[in-house]
Amino acid sequence: MTTTTSAPTTPAIDPVTAVHLTAGGVSLLLDLTDGRLPSVVHWGAALGAVTGQEARALTDAAVPPVVANEVDVPVRLALLPEHHTGWVGRPGLSGSRQGRDWSPLFTVVDVALDAVDGSARDGGLATVGAGTLTVDARDEVAALSLRIEVELGGSGLLRLRATVTNDADEPYDLGELSLALPVPARAHEILDLAGRWGLERTPQRRPLVVGQHLREGRKGRTGSDAATVLSVGVPGFGFARGEVWGLHVGFSGDHRSWAERTSAGLQVVGGGELLLPGEVRLARDEAYQGPWLYASYGDGLDEQAQRFHRWLRARPQHPRSPRPVTINVWEAVYFDHDLDRLKDLADRAAALGVERYVLDDGWFQGRRDDTAGLGDWVVDADVWPDGLGPIVDHVTGLGMEFGLWFEPEMVNEDSDLARAHPEWILQTGGRLPVRSRNQQVLDLGRPEAYEHVLGQMTAVLEAYDIAYVKWDHNRDLVDAGTVGGVPGVHRQTLATYRLMDELKRRFPGLEIESCSSGGARVDLGVLERTDRVWVSDCIDPLDRQQMMRWTEQLLPPELLGAHVASGRNHTTGRMHDLAFRAGTAVFGHLGIEWDLRLATDDESDQLRQWIELHRRHRELLHSGDVVRVDEHDPSMLVHGVVAEDRSEALFALATVGRSEIAPLGRFTLRGLDPERRYVVEPVAIGGVADEGRPHWYGGTFSGRALMVAGLQTPATRPEQVVLLEVRGA
Ligand code: DGJ
Repeated sequence: MTTTTSAPTTPAIDPVTAVHLTAGGVSLLLDLTDGRLPSVVHWGAALGAVTGQEARALTDAAVPPVVANEVDVPVRLALLPEHHTGWVGRPGLSGSRQGRDWSPLFTVVDVALDAVDGSARDGGLATVGAGTLTVDARDEVAALSLRIEVELGGSGLLRLRATVTNDADEPYDLGELSLALPVPARAHEILDLAGRWGLERTPQRRPLVVGQHLREGRKGRTGSDAATVLSVGVPGFGFARGEVWGLHVGFSGDHRSWAERTSAGLQVVGGGELLLPGEVRLARDEAYQGPWLYASYGDGLDEQAQRFHRWLRARPQHPRSPRPVTINVWEAVYFDHDLDRLKDLADRAAALGVERYVLDDGWFQGRRDDTAGLGDWVVDADVWPDGLGPIVDHVTGLGMEFGLWFEPEMVNEDSDLARAHPEWILQTGGRLPVRSRNQQVLDLGRPEAYEHVLGQMTAVLEAYDIAYVKWDHNRDLVDAGTVGGVPGVHRQTLATYRLMDELKRRFPGLEIESCSSGGARVDLGVLERTDRVWVSDCIDPLDRQQMMRWTEQLLPPELLGAHVASGRNHTTGRMHDLAFRAGTAVFGHLGIEWDLRLATDDESDQLRQWIELHRRHRELLHSGDVVRVDEHDPSMLVHGVVAEDRSEALFALATVGRSEIAPLGRFTLRGLDPERRYVVEPVAIGGVADEGRPHWYGGTFSGRALMVAGLQTPATRPEQVVLLEVRGA
């Protein structure tokens, strides 16, 4: 066994038998004795300084006794759970070579540590702050090599990934390569997300009982019903407190995550890609690399979310420029592309302070409705006889950026592309898949199909001054076979990533939005190469309050597309005041999706004020800590963003229902500096704050008083939001 570290250290005599990664209030203590795969001794709150002797004692303390009718040696659960140990839960690797080599026993051959901020050795224990541990292992008999990478970020977020290589001449059919992390026995309540089109990321809770809570995504995309973060916590955990351990699979294709409790008293959260039959067959020396899994511990859901947010914000590619206030024309014009009308919309938007204009679906050849055109990424000569130049120039002339919609992975049978290359449609052979939104999926794993889309997109992006692509994906993958009919979801997902990466390489500075029938592609795989997500096609603020709240379990507000739509919502038909619509949207990456010709002068004036308010606060909103208050009454959601230095905050009191009591009692805030004094002032736009006005409005209070004693809740009507500006006095 060799040990390498990036920083020169005193040569280590003892081999590494334990690794303590600790950063951002989190510790991961791994046991690596006897050349076995890393096994988690502790993942959770930071342990503080640990000596080599203490690490050994803790490792011993975690060993379960042998009980009747279990295997004679205590089951040692590794990051890749191995069946040969007697573990009878879900194994990390499943696969075979014609029925053989299906239960591997890996022995570690190399351990490497790459420490970001220093490392120390005490006997066999290596202690590292933020950094990466890479473990290489082999099974000589099964002729398989395995690499496990474990990375702890500065915020305390863990990333893990496994790679398996076939070392034999005979191919290896891989069924699954997943990793799992143990969660302590005191955690036995599951929280994950579900949802559907128009109502993405709805929370669901249930007890963790013996068996598996298994969430499989078989849609060829992340899915509006994806688990997103699958957490197990101590019963009753909330936003503010209660330990919780959660896992996110950073992948946009088929995937699974689960929580499992065995009758032998072990419990894990695990995840990986879901491979279809025959999808990954490894030839000699060929490797399969699983997606990154992200694991976040928190005392409360806010702390768990914060670890994701801070990690994302520390990435070099994270959008750092002020998020431009956007207008998207979809709900204003749909497929009706009329230059004068679109220019008029641009004029009105620019006058309100909008900074980016996005031309949605309908600009390309044959796309008069949703039955035709996908795959032909050339400007429609009938609708745009002079090309897109007139609208692009008009928009950029007004000082706004121009953005354009694409759906690169899709094809309509009614398109030149499908007529020329029907075989480029993903299919199992002999029949076409069932249509969805009248469309099929293009096999981007085929080099010719990939080049076609890349070429046409490049030509459009070169021809015009385009700063932003809204990248849509409007159907599940069904019967998604590639050449010869073999499943192609894995290949398709990687080809999409490649296409995004290549376009970003060709057009430095280009931003991409991940949209998929609204919010069906929200994951950290796509977010490695995109700059925001479209949360949902449903812009109804009542639903958006919930969707934003739960999407924030993974993503910070600056990555959430949040628009102000028309008074009567196009998805739900509900009517809402502008103040509720705008007061909900200002917390994300703000935009408008409304035919502004229909806005009254008063509404336009208020909208301008909301945009001003957002621009005034966006640095805070897009860099601060998200705080969600555990409700004092289900009819009201209290949430906000507090500056990292606690100097200021913006909070919202959103009335989402009606209570059996009125007025509600006092609400409390969270995340403030208890020793500091704050001026708390309601936002006056739209007159909501004047309703049911309590006596304290406009007062100065200590952070402690705001968090402990609280303030009387205003008696607003349902479906309204009162925003509170909180400034250090
Ligand atoms: C679905 C998206 O979510 C919408 O915003 C819009 O872009 C349509 N597709 C266009 O077809």
